[in-house]
Amino acid sequence: MKVILINGSYRKGGITAAALHMIEADLNEKGVETAFYNLGEISMSHCMGCCTCYRTGHCGIKDDAERISEIIAEADGVILGTPTYASNVSGLMKDLIDRGHFVIEQLLHNKACVTIATGENYGSKDALKVLDNLVIYSGGVLCDSFAMNAPFNGIDAVREKLSGRCSKAVRKFMNGLQDKADHPIQKLIHYIVLNAGIRPLVRKKGALYRGVADKWEKMGIEL
Ligand SMILES: Cc1cc2nc3c(=O)[nH]c(=O)nc-3n(C[C@H](O)[C@H](O)[C@H](O)COP(=O)(O)O)c2cc1C
Repeated sequence: MKVILINGSYRKGGITAAALHMIEADLNEKGVETAFYNLGEISMSHCMGCCTCYRTGHCGIKDDAERISEIIAEADGVILGTPTYASNVSGLMKDLIDRGHFVIEQLLHNKACVTIATGENYGSKDALKVLDNLVIYSGGVLCDSFAMNAPFNGIDAVREKLSGRCSKAVRKFMNGLQDKADHPIQKLIHYIVLNAGIRPLVRKKGALYRGVADKWEKMGIEL
């Protein structure tokens, strides 16, 4: 059982990192193996829109993004955390979303997931929604999702509250790891998105999306 935690803030000592580390420590205590990635520490440029990944299954840019995407593909669970920037996810998190080709490849297929957005005033719910939609559209199971506001650099003001919220997230996440079937509304949304949008496109594109179709086949997703 391996769980990946991803910090979308450049700030390794920030509130997003603190929340993720609280969750990681709790998971480790429960015997769950984890790996923590600060997106600010990896080499990752923007998606260029070349579509090589759709055709070949591999990104044309040689940096760390593809490695993270492969690590996610091997994981049982994924915890995504982002600070809110202008009522959205951070640029780092958006780069990972684009470079990881999450939705088209169904990268989170059957993986238990938790999403976290931290903010200072307004917009963290909007950032959270971006991550929540990402998980559901990518075939993941959204076990829990929360936004936490705090003063910038003001972890002490919310440490206790954050710790309690993280413990709750871990409880729901552990349940999700064991029983992935208990989310009928998410499953319905995913069914509609996959069958009305993604699957017809991948079929229609044929050889141009061969890389995507091959990955689906390995995961047992019918074309
Ligand atoms: C460029 C920038 C934009 C921000 N935009 C928002 C915002 O729209 N809404 C909000 O509530 N907080 C905003 N914030 C505050 C951060 O989201 C907030 O302090 C967050 O918890 C920081 O996370 P970190 O400590 O993990 O870096 C912004 C901060 C920065 C640096």
